[in-house]
Amino acid sequence: MNKKTIKDIDLKGKKILVRCDFNVPMDEEKNITDNTRIVAALPTIKYLLENNCAVILCSHLGRPKGEFKAEFSLKPVAKELSNLLNTEVIMANDVIGEDAKTKAKNLQQGQVMLLENVRFHREETDNAPEFSKKLADMAEVYVNDAFGAAHRAHSSTAGVAAYLPAVSGFLIEKELQFLGNAVSNPERPFVAILGGAKVSDKIGVIDSLLEKVDTLIIGGGMAYTFFKSQGYGVGDSICELDKLDLAKEAMKKAEEKGVKLMLPIDTRIGKEFKPDTESKTVAWTEIPDGWEGFDIGEKTIEMFCNELKNAKTVVWNGPLGLFEFDQFAKGTNAIAKTLSEIDATTIIGGGDSAAAVKKAGLQDKMTHISTGGGASLEFLEGKKLPGIECLQDK
Ligand code: 3PG
Repeated sequence: MNKKTIKDIDLKGKKILVRCDFNVPMDEEKNITDNTRIVAALPTIKYLLENNCAVILCSHLGRPKGEFKAEFSLKPVAKELSNLLNTEVIMANDVIGEDAKTKAKNLQQGQVMLLENVRFHREETDNAPEFSKKLADMAEVYVNDAFGAAHRAHSSTAGVAAYLPAVSGFLIEKELQFLGNAVSNPERPFVAILGGAKVSDKIGVIDSLLEKVDTLIIGGGMAYTFFKSQGYGVGDSICELDKLDLAKEAMKKAEEKGVKLMLPIDTRIGKEFKPDTESKTVAWTEIPDGWEGFDIGEKTIEMFCNELKNAKTVVWNGPLGLFEFDQFAKGTNAIAKTLSEIDATTIIGGGDSAAAVKKAGLQDKMTHISTGGGASLEFLEGKKLPGIECLQDK
């Protein structure tokens, strides 16, 4: 990476503002149901503590839209972090208010504190300079380690870098190393698997990956838009009628570039959007009216998994079906299992694909699981991420 990291500057004994992505899922009682993002932030925090820094952490949680809302408080994160670090994490009651300012001012070397949810202020998402400056005023150095929010040009992810020396933490460094190497210098054959509901969400990444991969596998809801673009009926399956041209263009581009574009040849369909709905497998050209496609079929699973067995680099973003319902999780699970067995670099985009791999209990078998959903997608699209761009060059 050509950006400076915490190893490239002298930060011993200094007060450091660290932007993390602690946007973690919680249940109704505010118990954290997946602490991956908090665990992923630990190496940077520990390094700063070992270097005698006073560590001021900040993050967003959900989308409270510029207002204080107790259900979006980061207090449960402070508790979890404190357990993981085995040290007190001082929780501020606000972001840039008197409580945060006083606690930040009094913070000693070797201590950690967490500001409240930065999105309690609308200025955060507006990337307002005065707000960025107030955050910056609490510290001497800014460290961005929030890969999951690096595609956002917000105050705490980018704006603050105008006022402090700005470097990346170890998490961002690691994400860029794995995602970056996979796309810029892949061992071949290089296969990308793209799933998820909508072509419109993925068209940028399809376009960019068609320049790089040997094989592009498409599954999930967006496959039905591809089917429809070939003139076949898709029943009640999810389908973007205004994106048929995009699907056709992607198929044409694949042909021109010599990329093997693989679409499902059969599909598991259900009567209703219910876990126990009646279901059956049909050929991709034979989806009856009144039925909805929810997963790839058995022949497709075999075809996709065979292709993956020869791959040396695989990037996967988006589930192949409605994996939240067990009877439609077979395609996604089969892909996860195959990836866990093959001798290849396997990179899993964050969000739903990461959740699917974890649900299958295979997270330790992958080379890298990104902590960023939207961010990893934008990175794979070749877009510049504001949270990275704002950091000092090496
Ligand atoms: C995520 O969960 O993808 C990140 O934390 C970004 O959240 P956002 O989409 O609300 O900006």
